[in-house]
Amino acid sequence: MSTDSTRFMRALRRLPVDQTPVWFMRQAGRVLPEYRAIRQDRTLLDICRWPDLCAEVTLQPLRRFNLDAAILFADIMHPLIGAGVDLDIVDGAGPIIRTPVRSHQDLAALQPLVPEESLAFVFETIRILKSDLGDRVPLIGFSGAPFTLASYLIEGKASRDFVHTKAMMYSAPDLWHGLMQRLTEMVIAYLRAQRAAGVDALQLFDSWVGCLAPRDYQRFVRPYLRRIFAAVAPLGAPVIHFGVNTATLLHLMKDEGADAIGVDWRIPLDDAWAIIGDDLAIQGNLDPTVLFGTPEFIAREVADVLARAGGRPGHVFNLGHGLLPTTPLDGVERAVDCVRTNGLAGRGVLELVAART
Ligand code: CP3
Repeated sequence: MSTDSTRFMRALRRLPVDQTPVWFMRQAGRVLPEYRAIRQDRTLLDICRWPDLCAEVTLQPLRRFNLDAAILFADIMHPLIGAGVDLDIVDGAGPIIRTPVRSHQDLAALQPLVPEESLAFVFETIRILKSDLGDRVPLIGFSGAPFTLASYLIEGKASRDFVHTKAMMYSAPDLWHGLMQRLTEMVIAYLRAQRAAGVDALQLFDSWVGCLAPRDYQRFVRPYLRRIFAAVAPLGAPVIHFGVNTATLLHLMKDEGADAIGVDWRIPLDDAWAIIGDDLAIQGNLDPTVLFGTPEFIAREVADVLARAGGRPGHVFNLGHGLLPTTPLDGVERAVDCVRTNGLAGRGVLELVAART
């Protein structure tokens, strides 16, 4: 049994497809009333720790929309949760760390991660999902990337300017590299265990790496990404490397060893692909707020992304960042329909865009 012949898996391997595959980051969760109903009297982590329910939440968006991939319902913070970090995921704020890591003592207090023990519920969820989805719909596993995890650990919460994070890089580089080393080991162990449990593809969410100058990315982040991609490559699951605001980093990100790069909407897809080069796949890159537009506007913007992909093998349609919680479901459905009707891998799309603008 294998998902190798699905559109999503073929596109990640840059093989021709009958239609452009489509899925959305954050497709499971608050955007869906059926999720909110389950979430009403439980926390996010309650759901994650209950494999049957977690599998159900993962499948909800696939029942509603005609999507080409499922993404495991979890959070990027799972490796830290598994390592015993005292954190909460707070409504409207995201992850909050009670004791941020700011010193060598804090770093030494981080527990090692043995995912099969502390995160067993994740792998049980994956096994349930694989038996439900069979070879029809591929399942994406994921983790936060070391920089993005480090930024939460050091700041203690979401950040605008990443002052504590950058201050550690610039004033205590040994501590920074020690922390990144530990996070890299955790991420590798967590991704390996997800693959062993059955996920078909992996995504590394490096959501906040775009706050770095290219020089800092090279010095402080690149070696760890390379280690991760080298460690997971032999697992045979294609890997997507995603970040927001990365237009000025794509020329570096393309060389880390990922199979596909996820790009946001701030750079046109064809420009991003020209930088990344034809030997990598690309995922993206509709602005998530486009889904709040009129049906005509959504159609035009979806067609524009597809036209920029131009029917070249290796495009996975997605948003440039996750679905926003208040996104109208009609907008989501409209976008999927537009990919389906226009997305015969770019055929006729240029004409369609010309006709509509
Ligand atoms: O559908 C899916 O994509 C799978 C589930 C998923 C969640 N988080 C569940 C979740 C995924 C892929 C994530 C990734 C994630 N989490 C990222 C990377 C993607 C991105 O947006 O950049 C980041 C940075 C986080 C950290 C995090 N967790 C944030 C910023 C928030 C939102 C806080 C808020 O309330 O605005 C969370 C909480 C979270 N993770 C929710 C969900 C469904 C919402 C709260 C809830 O439903 O309990």
